Amino acid sequence: MTHKIRYGGDYNPEQWPEEVWDEDHRLFTRAGIDTLTVGVFSWSLTQPAEDTYDFTVLDRILDRAAAEGRQVCLATGTAALPPWLAKAHPEVNRTDFEGRRHRYGQRHNFCPSSPAYRRHATAMAGCLAERYADHPALLAWHINNEYGGVCYCDVCADAFREWLRNKYVTLDALNDAWWTTFWSHRFTDWAEIEPPNALTEHWRGPDHTAFQGITLDYFRFTTDALLGCFLAEKEVIRAHDPDTPVTTNFMGMFRPLDYHRWAPHLDFASWDSYPPLDAPPTWPALAHDLMRGLKDGAPFWLMEQTPSTTACRDVNPLRRPGELRLATFQAVAHGADAALYFQMRASRGACEKYHGAVIGHAGRDDTRVFREVAELGRELELLGDASLGARTPARTALIFDWDSWWALEISDGPSRLVKYQEVLHAYYRAAREAGADVDVVPHTADLTPYDVVLAPVLHMVKGDLAARLEAVAARGGTVLTTFLSGRVDEHDRAFPTDVPGPLAPLMGIRVDEWDSRPQDVVQPVELGEFEAEARLLFEIVQPRGAEPVGTYGADFYAGTPAVTRHAYGQGEGWYVATALDQPGVDWVIRRILTRHSLLGPYAHQPAVETATRVAPDGSRLLFLLNHTADPAHLTAHAAATDLLTGKRVGEGEPLTLDPRGTAILRIQ
Ligand code: GLA
Ligand code: ZN
Repeated sequence: MTHKIRYGGDYNPEQWPEEVWDEDHRLFTRAGIDTLTVGVFSWSLTQPAEDTYDFTVLDRILDRAAAEGRQVCLATGTAALPPWLAKAHPEVNRTDFEGRRHRYGQRHNFCPSSPAYRRHATAMAGCLAERYADHPALLAWHINNEYGGVCYCDVCADAFREWLRNKYVTLDALNDAWWTTFWSHRFTDWAEIEPPNALTEHWRGPDHTAFQGITLDYFRFTTDALLGCFLAEKEVIRAHDPDTPVTTNFMGMFRPLDYHRWAPHLDFASWDSYPPLDAPPTWPALAHDLMRGLKDGAPFWLMEQTPSTTACRDVNPLRRPGELRLATFQAVAHGADAALYFQMRASRGACEKYHGAVIGHAGRDDTRVFREVAELGRELELLGDASLGARTPARTALIFDWDSWWALEISDGPSRLVKYQEVLHAYYRAAREAGADVDVVPHTADLTPYDVVLAPVLHMVKGDLAARLEAVAARGGTVLTTFLSGRVDEHDRAFPTDVPGPLAPLMGIRVDEWDSRPQDVVQPVELGEFEAEARLLFEIVQPRGAEPVGTYGADFYAGTPAVTRHAYGQGEGWYVATALDQPGVDWVIRRILTRHSLLGPYAHQPAVETATRVAPDGSRLLFLLNHTADPAHLTAHAAATDLLTGKRVGEGEPLTLDPRGTAILRIQ
């Protein structure tokens, strides 16, 4: 067993003659590579025909890895159909949103409800598990790959009806949940229900539906249908291999699948990080924290990142020198115990031939990218087990709720311009740049460890969440929520009460009206001495016990509250009634964190990210990540040793971070 951060990536040697493998392994050794994800797209190779399995190549790949002292994350390879399967059973192909049955092509191309797909995928997973369960190279199982996509075929339609019967039991309950008396939709037979798509409830696209209830349930059904595929494969793996951990690689903030419904079924979480161009560093950080939150804060794997460049975008910029290292240590800072790449060697053909790889087409080890990868490999060896299994001691939680995300973005009114991720990110960013560690948690999470609970755009309030948020404030904590929160129940029906529904007692306000405006309409909001700008949506707040903290500066609601604070028990409920700009959100969040002494020691240098992890032996690691291309000059807030350089620094002494530099301080 390797007692260090796992390092390696997706490796597809089956695309190459074996002489190339020799070279690969020589370079892997130079780069400190210990872990290879194999078999992700090898179904057509391992099962060339319905009744023929052929594991010769995969045997050699695993044997070779073992001989070289490397381990594998073995994929079941069921994310891309082999052509014969699509030909023999055309119903394995997906039917798209427009109702078109696809023919063979692409990947992630299977219908999740298709019995033929399920049968063949589980047969493959079973064969692999039987064959490799005791292989010395086997480290983990990687089921499928980046599950996603929606199917609207007749098999799915039937499966959806079955799913609905289980959920609602009676059509009366379903009609009530979906509010079908509206527009003459009362269903009298389960068979009348159609999947919501361009041929049925939708107009303009997947986010524009006449019945939010149906569409929401189809999102949930799709989550469960794909999860069913995962569980079926996991079950057959477990029949042969009771112990090896099983995962599937997620995609961070991926709207189509509610990963919280999947989380209990993974042995560890893993995800692929490809941040959007120009995303601030807090964007991938939020995704890391969301992934860490899936398993109650347990470490996750960074299953993929590019060492240099992507290929699928219109423009695919290079990672600048030092950016890969910084992104990798950022992942570790947020809880990664593995750092893997897509991909180890570039494909010669097809759509990813220009995707960045540790080893390019020329097979060189004297490229900049290879050198950076190898240098990082050396540093990870140096770091050893110092951060393995470490946890984040966060006292701030951010509630992330797929149902709220879906409900908000498929709603007609008040505004199509409010984007769930953007609002969450603004609050997350403010907290992180002020130096607070943040756990990103589901609405069902135990909130007792937290002093501050942030619940922006919590559109849907389910179960006993409102009571648990009240309990946070009652014992002295602070709860923040915003515009468009507390609007609907689990079926997307408006609460028959004042806005913000179940959150109103905690917030001490009432909202009767809201004004949705185009992007270019700016409302000044006075926050004490500070003036922020607000956009998109302006809720008109009537305090019912809360005190105004900020007020609108224009229009007929000028002078009315835009931000309020309500004393509740020993604590406070904060309501932000509009989409404040980042400085406005920063102002609010820093006030809240200050109340709980949660401002970090480097909060005045927001470009230096800080993150704390506490190792199993109790040692406290403070990651300092300089996200600028200039050196950062700090004053050490405590005596510490930098684990990457071995250098000691005393409290109050100068501490300089290189451009894009990282320090991992073990605090004394
Ligand atoms: C995804 C997939 C990989 C590869 C990369 C390219 O993450 O899992 O197979 O296509 O994207 O960025
Ligand atoms: Zn289908």
